[in-house]
Amino acid sequence: MNNQLAIDGGPKTKTVPFGTAMRFGEDELQELKEALEQNTLFYHAGQKVKTFLNNFNALYGVRYSVAASSGTAAIHIALGAAGVTVGDEVITSPITDQGTLVGILYQNAIPVFADLEPHSYNLDPASVEARVTPRTKAIVVVHLAGNSCDMDGIMAVARKHNLQVIEDCAQSYMTRYKGRLVGTIGHYGCFSTNDFKHISTGDGGIVTVNSGDEAEYYAVHAFADKNYRRFGGTVIRDLNALAPNYRMTELQGAVGIAQLRKLPAICAARSRYGKRLSEIIAGLPGIAVPYVAAENESSYWFYMFRINEQQLGTTREAFCDALRAEGIPCSAGYIPDVVYMQPLFQKREAYAGSHFPFELSDVSYERGICPEAEAILRTAVRVEIRECFTEQDIEEMGAAIRKVASYYSQQAR
Ligand SMILES: Cc1ncc(COP(=O)(O)O)c(C=O)c1O
Repeated sequence: MNNQLAIDGGPKTKTVPFGTAMRFGEDELQELKEALEQNTLFYHAGQKVKTFLNNFNALYGVRYSVAASSGTAAIHIALGAAGVTVGDEVITSPITDQGTLVGILYQNAIPVFADLEPHSYNLDPASVEARVTPRTKAIVVVHLAGNSCDMDGIMAVARKHNLQVIEDCAQSYMTRYKGRLVGTIGHYGCFSTNDFKHISTGDGGIVTVNSGDEAEYYAVHAFADKNYRRFGGTVIRDLNALAPNYRMTELQGAVGIAQLRKLPAICAARSRYGKRLSEIIAGLPGIAVPYVAAENESSYWFYMFRINEQQLGTTREAFCDALRAEGIPCSAGYIPDVVYMQPLFQKREAYAGSHFPFELSDVSYERGICPEAEAILRTAVRVEIRECFTEQDIEEMGAAIRKVASYYSQQAR
């Protein structure tokens, strides 16, 4: 076998294109046609959003959920429902999409970042507990890239300090923690159906109301709909508290119904492929595979491993260039830096010309407050996992990572 790297003129590992597939088809078209034939695209008058939610509830084994216009909106709704308000602190992850943070700031609450576990890339319950103050109201746990947080640890901290737990499952459909689906363990589970997620309605979101309490469900529903209360025959429009309009349309609901039917197969394929890739590259010198506890199930929204530059005697950039030359698209990390290094936090300015609500708190956003999260982003390499990939794609991806890692670790000896 010729082990010369493709980047140095050797044979490329991946020569056959990756598998592709259409995400939308006749099923979605039929649902959309029916939606239009209703002669209304308003969720409360039509049946599509209702059916989408009923089917989601059945799949997830929950009694109540509320549709939203995005994942960001879903998280904001959950925060509103959890009673997060002016000056409250909300502990969350520094490696996430900014959609996790938007609702916190719109509630005029203050994001507080806790550190992560080095290989699951998810919140470390000990660090979360260390960040709790008398102002802390809630924890937004982000199940990153399809992999569950240590929910026993998180829930124990929450119980001890009487905190609400919002699960950000935007990247984690059908993810299991000790057999339970994430999104059903905390007080609320938030999902995104934006176009990059396991399933897409273009944009959209869902919030589960895990208490199963009807009155709470109505309140959550009202928070997503300008405080309109549409249950019980008459519509009550009293504006007794601020609430945005985060409604989902019937068109999104229609596509969602069809997409939801595909979800279990999508997640099963991703889970199988992610596990297989870890099997192929586990134990390589200089490579650390993502940690998924044996009793958990990841649905791999992406696959991210870490490299040890000293052990490999090369930089992450050179490693990624070599992997790309082998025919494997990859990127350095997930986001360029931890979110607290974003200008908004560095300037403490969410609203133009104002330091509110940051001035209510002395929370730090300095470099170094979450060393493990910072180290993850400095050393991680991300590759795609798609349900439409073939078994051969995964074998070749693994072979390419093995080839590049083995080459560099042998050179470094
Ligand atoms: C972890 C996480 N949270 C929240 C969001 C926000 O979702 P949306 O784009 O639907 O608003 C995303 C989307 O990228 C996400 O990945």
